[in-house]
Amino acid sequence: MLRRYAVVLCVFALCLAAEVGARRPLLPQKSGVSKSSFGSVPDAGDVDMFTLTNANGVEIRAITYGAIITSIRVPDRSGRFADVVLGFDNLEGYLKGHPYFGTVVGRYGNRIGGGHFTLNGQAFKLAQNNGPNHLHGGVKGFDKYVWKAEPLQNGLGVAFSRTSPDGEEGYPGNLAAHVTYTLTDKNELVVDYHATTDKATPVNLTQHSYFNLSGDPSTTILGHELRIDADRYTPVDATLIPTGELVPVQGTPFDFRKPTTIGARIEQPHEQLKFGRGYDHNWVLNRKGSQPAFAARVLEPKTGRTVEVATTEPGVQFYTGNFLDGTIKGKGGQVYNQRAGLCLETQHFPDSPNKPNFPSTVLQPGKEYTTRTVFTFGVAR
Ligand code: BGC
Repeated sequence: MLRRYAVVLCVFALCLAAEVGARRPLLPQKSGVSKSSFGSVPDAGDVDMFTLTNANGVEIRAITYGAIITSIRVPDRSGRFADVVLGFDNLEGYLKGHPYFGTVVGRYGNRIGGGHFTLNGQAFKLAQNNGPNHLHGGVKGFDKYVWKAEPLQNGLGVAFSRTSPDGEEGYPGNLAAHVTYTLTDKNELVVDYHATTDKATPVNLTQHSYFNLSGDPSTTILGHELRIDADRYTPVDATLIPTGELVPVQGTPFDFRKPTTIGARIEQPHEQLKFGRGYDHNWVLNRKGSQPAFAARVLEPKTGRTVEVATTEPGVQFYTGNFLDGTIKGKGGQVYNQRAGLCLETQHFPDSPNKPNFPSTVLQPGKEYTTRTVFTFGVAR
């Protein structure tokens, strides 16, 4: 009898501990950055992991391979913490090949039509690594290099850097790139990008995290609600290259000016949704000026978790994980099925190097490329 009580008591204590562990810490946590080892890449060296924590117990992890964000742990409306991004538990997962989970994408985020462009009268040829097009910087983009990294002096973040040599993946000029992740006590993840070059080159750096705010990637993101502050988007051809037009979202499944469930219109027989197998398009943000301004907000209604995106960029690629097909097993052995995650990639428009009417992505020697995107995590009550 006594033994049975003891067992029941133990089970109860264990459940309570697990519950308390998942919930918001009662006492303020100490913000900080710590470094640990995350394995090594053959012929490229050791990979470090940086863990950023803030006073609310939010935790973000990033590694020097690809400057990848491997996890973001944020609370739901009852204070329960969960990891809200897709990825892997170990380096092997990232090395096996994956669709840019959490990576910094460069030198050029998204597609360049036909894998070529002309700059100052000179033709440049890039890898055609996505059908006829060039995608996310080529065969070995910024996502597949080990970056240098050091904690920020303010103790709130980590600075990654790498120099992409002249001719890498066909791009001109030595490009010195810096990306910092800062976690504030307002639950903001501030991503700062900086680059300089010694020859004119296109640059378009972005962050490619796949969010599933439910914390449970066995469910799709179709029930998440989305608002995008954009009156127009850039429609694409069948190979996902923009046609060059800026088309009003009004009256189309691309109108997210009011919060709308992502799955509400994704299966509509709209040609553009067919091309992308769902949403995989660039929205032309309404934001103006040089400071980060509101771009988009996602809400997961069951947990109440939200993420709000502000940026200095003119566009955002909203991608609904259409090409995930259940062949990748991520953290904890979880199979990532179609639409297990969504990306909000703040950026210049795809194929800008071939579209004179799009804002220019060319960085000139002596000039600085500086962009900022802020992801603010919250809860809706
Ligand atoms: C692109 C998708 C692509 C995905 C993974 C997104 O940025 O728009 O078409 O499948 O990245 O590579």
